[in-house]
Order: sequence, then structure tokens, then C-alpha cells
Amino acid sequence: MQKRIAVLASGSGSNFQALIDAFSKSSGRITISGLIASKAGIKAIERAEKAKIPTLVLPSHKENREKFEQIMLNQLTDWKVDLVVLAGFLSLIPISIVNKWPNAIINIHPALLPKFGGIGMYGLNVHQAVIEANESLSGCSVHYVSEKYDEGDVIDQAFVDVLKNDTAETLAKKILIEEHKLLPKVVERILLP
Ligand code: GRF
Repeated sequence: MQKRIAVLASGSGSNFQALIDAFSKSSGRITISGLIASKAGIKAIERAEKAKIPTLVLPSHKENREKFEQIMLNQLTDWKVDLVVLAGFLSLIPISIVNKWPNAIINIHPALLPKFGGIGMYGLNVHQAVIEANESLSGCSVHYVSEKYDEGDVIDQAFVDVLKNDTAETLAKKILIEEHKLLPKVVERILLP
């Protein structure tokens, strides 16, 4: 039976692209039902259009949290998704959604959780914190999503050495390459065990 995923993104969507690349050429056992974008104009939407994947743009959760939640819930229900994949989605997932898809919402984070996660730990902040902590190893983690930032169980990780001359930018680039390999691999492992 075909498995369906929805991808949620807030920015460039390079991880979304990795999922498009992995699943549009697979035998079709996993399909991307749609993209849920946190705002208009983000690059992830262009990627969806190119791949002919439907997109829903959410209203701002700052203006109307209830509407944001209801629209997301309705869309995921309509698409009948087996798995929700957060790929650079910056808002917290409402508890009603976490409860409706138990162990079926995952996120990718650009560090080795449980360290370097939580509020404020996004973008270059994460890599800057890793460098300032003098870590010699970093990487990325795919984890289940709970109602708190970056706190669900870790499913899998990939590792990258932190070199003396690494900056937050160089580290981010190296880790992103690993993210693009890890995320589709984990999606496949969850849906096609
Ligand atoms: C990635 O580093 C991911 O780990 C984090 O947000 C970033 C999204 O990048 N959650 P992209 O939009 O997939 O290029």
C-alpha cells in the first residue's frame, strides 16, 4: 500500500528537495501529498510547484493561533497522511496535532540532540553554540515531535567532525549534506519497515 507524507517548511526547503528527489524516483511506495508552508514567498513553495506538489500556506500563528491550528489539522486530515515531516519548520506543533498523529510526526535538527536543542536553537545559532562549547563532534538528528521544541525521542543521527577552523557557516554546510541523506532514509525506514 502506498504511504503518504506531508512536509512542513518555513524556508529554503533543501531538506524538502531531498525528499522530493528520493521519493519521486522511488517505485512510488511513498508519495508526498503536499507541502505546508508557514508563509508565502519561501523557496520551499517554488520547489513544490516545480515538482507539482500541492501547497498550503498557513495563516500567521501570531495573529490567530486557533485558525493556524485548525487549518493545519484539516489539511493533514484531508491528505490522510501516514507521516508528517518537519523540514525546517519553525513553529511549535499544536498539541491537538501531536496527539492526532502519535509517533507519526518527525523533525530534523542540525545538531546532536539532546544537546543544542530547544528555544532559540535554530539556524546558525545552533552551530555557533556547538563551536563555543568546543565540541569536536556535531551532526544532525531526526526525532519524534512532541509539544516541546526538540524534545521527542531521537530516531537516528549522522555525525560530522568539528574542525579547529570551522565557523558556524562551514559547519552548517557540512551538516546540511548529511541531513539530506539522513532524512529520506529515516522516512523510508519508518514507513516501509
Ligand atoms: C535544517 O538545518 C534543519 O535541520 C533545520 O532547519 C534547516 C532547514 O533547512 N530544522 P532547509 O530549509 O531544509 O534548507
